[in-house]
Amino acid sequence: MAITTCVFDAYGTLFDVAAAARNVAQEPGRENFAAHWPKLAEIWRAKQLQYTWLRAITDTHTDFWTVTKNGLDFALEALGLQKDAELRERLLSLYWELQAFDEVPAMLASLKSNGFNTAILSNGSPDMLDGAVRSAGLSDSLDAVLSVQSISVFKPDIRVYDMVGAHFGCTKEQVLFVSSNGWDAAAASGYGFTTAWVNRSGDPVDRLPWTAQHTLQDLTDIPTLAGV
Ligand code: LAC
Repeated sequence: MAITTCVFDAYGTLFDVAAAARNVAQEPGRENFAAHWPKLAEIWRAKQLQYTWLRAITDTHTDFWTVTKNGLDFALEALGLQKDAELRERLLSLYWELQAFDEVPAMLASLKSNGFNTAILSNGSPDMLDGAVRSAGLSDSLDAVLSVQSISVFKPDIRVYDMVGAHFGCTKEQVLFVSSNGWDAAAASGYGFTTAWVNRSGDPVDRLPWTAQHTLQDLTDIPTLAGV
């Protein structure tokens, strides 16, 4: 069945979170952070995701902003930076002013001009996603921004992937789901979507019961995969 609907994960897939942290490290007066930022970004992201999974399996949902702050606080303390309240606020503010990866505007424009539905499906809170979509100038290229907040459970619970069909009235076979998170793309494959894993950093494949059908280095070829 032909693809009609292209759905994207947000953080790390459309929005370049790592570049934002790198830019903060280059600000004047942040010499101490400059030495730590790659490790901090790695621990922050790992903890943020672990907390989403733990909250999903223990049925203790909270909003993504809370787990984002919890993950950062763990990472700052792990690196002895927990006393720098200004750095903490600066890093948190990044999530509201992210840039998209370079190829994103043209890729989404191509999908839209060829009649595809386009959407974000994200753990992000609606206000966080709204800030990032506006900041990256993507408001006109997306038909929907679907947040798990309306169902109170994080990915990869299958109720999250159910949101796509509920919103667009499409079947699973009509959806191309795109994520830079290997586990997210894999779980969406298990759900029944056609999937593309955007593996920019050459990571190993996650050892899970499912695998993404396609692996890409960036988002340039998404319109071709969708059937443009
Ligand atoms: C999201 C995270 C998982 O946007 O990247 O849902």
